Formats: sequence, structure tokens, C-alpha cells
Amino acid sequence: HSEISRVKNLEKIHFGEYDVETWYFSPYPREYSEAAVVYICEFCLFHFISEKQLRRHCAKCTVRHPPGNEIYRCDDISFFEIDGNKQKVYCRNLCLLSKLFLDHKTLYYDVDPFLFYIMCKQDEYGCHMIGYFSKEKESTEGYNLACILTLPQHQRKGFGRLLIAFSYELSKKEGKVGSPEKPLSDLGLLSYRSYWSEVIVELLIETKELNEDIAIEDISARTSIATTDIIQTLQTLGAIKPYKGQQIICLSDGVIASYHKAKEKHKNRRIEESCLQWTPPH
Ligand code: COA
Ligand code: NA
Repeated sequence: HSEISRVKNLEKIHFGEYDVETWYFSPYPREYSEAAVVYICEFCLFHFISEKQLRRHCAKCTVRHPPGNEIYRCDDISFFEIDGNKQKVYCRNLCLLSKLFLDHKTLYYDVDPFLFYIMCKQDEYGCHMIGYFSKEKESTEGYNLACILTLPQHQRKGFGRLLIAFSYELSKKEGKVGSPEKPLSDLGLLSYRSYWSEVIVELLIETKELNEDIAIEDISARTSIATTDIIQTLQTLGAIKPYKGQQIICLSDGVIASYHKAKEKHKNRRIEESCLQWTPPH
């Protein structure tokens, strides 16, 4: 981890219409740290040392969306699936960029074993990257997500939650249970907790209305959330209670009220399963 603990070497990135302050070290070429600003083409992710160089590039660069297949489109939100083995340069540049905002993850120069899911917002000019997550093609640990990032200029607007929801939508299509790679950052954990709580509480309320019983394993099968994550979430919500020598799931009024509030907040941005055009790659 020697490289990762190195101090922040860059002040800012220029990305699309934004100037964004960086958070952590990322191994961009040395020349960049003297310039303090990296100029990045928001579509192909090539990086430049001066605005002039970027402008010259943009005059020629015709790309207006990430490489790879568009596998989802709903209103102005799209997802592109990119194979690290086929788009090495793009994926390496993406890793360099995201390392600026990730403290503890190893930077993968070896992008071959990963798929990258880029989330974009579309306007008349093109598909602007909002964030992405990566996923191992084969995870022996059952991970369905390796790294997740919402670009700082788009954070706290519910996009992280959309990325997480999408990762579980893929797992459902695969008929698998998944979990994010550990360790999660503080922000990562907050976002997952929020997602897990909402999905699990929603299902519990639904089944209660139908007067059905539901076991942790059933919740897992229906949501693709791993049982350990479900148990942890229920514990955090204080929803596992002893009852006649057994453990039962019981939601307090406070938990139910928070759920309705969160649901109202997120109702405008959801992943629509019917907009996903995708079959598992193997
Ligand atoms: N402070 C407090 N809560 C926060 C927060 C912050 N700075 N950022 C997110 N949250 C919580 C929110 O409460 C929200 O829940 P709510 O909608 O129920 O209120 C939940 O997390 C998700 O927020 P959302 O707006 O969907 O997330 P985001 O687009 O800001 O993205 C990350 C979340 C984790 C992807 C983003 O913070 C990020 O890219 N961080 C840097 C990279 C990283 O740490 N990745 C995870 C490790 S791989
Ligand atoms: Na938010």
C-alpha cells in the first residue's frame, strides 16, 4: 500500500464544465503534479497537462459517450458496459481518475478481469459520466461490485444509490446473490446501508400486508442481497427481537416512518428493470 498512502499530488481536475478538487493521491505522470490541474476529456477520459492541449484534443475528439454497449436507458440516464480487456486505455484512465477519490482501494492496472458500468446523463451534446462501478468477471467471494464512484460534482443527489441498485439488478438477472467488495469506505457504507434498509423494509412491509411470513433467505433470494448484509442491516435498524425463545423481525414505527420518507425522496430516480437490455456475459 505504499503508493496509496502517498500524499495528494494534484489539486484539481477539469472535467466537462466542472473544476473539481481532488481528495487523494493518484499515480498520474509526474509532470501533472507540477501543473496541479489535470485536464480530462469527459468522453474518452484522456488527460492533458494544459487547457490548450485539451482544447486541441476536443476539436478532434468525436466521441460523445463511453465505449462499449449501452445496456440501459431510462429517461436521461444510461448505463454502458465496458470490458476491461477490450477497452484497456479507457478503463485505465477511469481507474486513474477514480483513484483521486478513493483512499484505500488498490489501483488496478490490470483491468482485464473487470467489467465497468458507466452511468451517464444525456443531453443534446452527449452522454456525460456521472459515476461508475466496476465488477469482477468472476468473483470467488461472491462480490457483485468492486469500486463505486459518483463524481464529486454529482454527489448527494441519489446517484450512488442508483449505481448500487443497478448492481443488484444485474445480480438478479444472473440469479445470484452479491455483496460489495470489502472494505467499504465510510461513504460507501452509508450509501449501502441506506439502500439495503429501504429495499429490505419495503419487502417486509409488503409481505406483512399480505399476511405472509418471510425468512432472511427469502429476502435474499428476492433482492440478491447477501444474508450477512441483511442481518447486519436489520440489526442496525434494531429490527431483530427475541420472542418466545426465538428471534423475530419486527419494525418499529420510527423505522417505518423513515422508510416512507426515504421512498418519497427517491421516487423520481429509480432503476426500471424493463429498461435493462442485458443477459449475463457467461
Ligand atoms: N454525508 C452523509 N451521508 C451521505 C454522504 C455524506 N457525504 N454521502 C452519501 N450519504 C448517504 C446519504 O444519506 C444517502 O442516503 P439517503 O438518500 O437515504 O439520504 C446515501 O448515502 C446515498 O447517497 P447518494 O446521493 O445516492 O450517494 P452519492 O451519489 O453521493 O455516492 C458514493 C455515494 C459512496 C458513491 C460517493 O460518496 C463516492 O463516490 N465516494 C468516493 C468513492 C468511495 O468512497 N466509494 C466507495 C468505496 S469503493
Ligand atoms: Na442523497
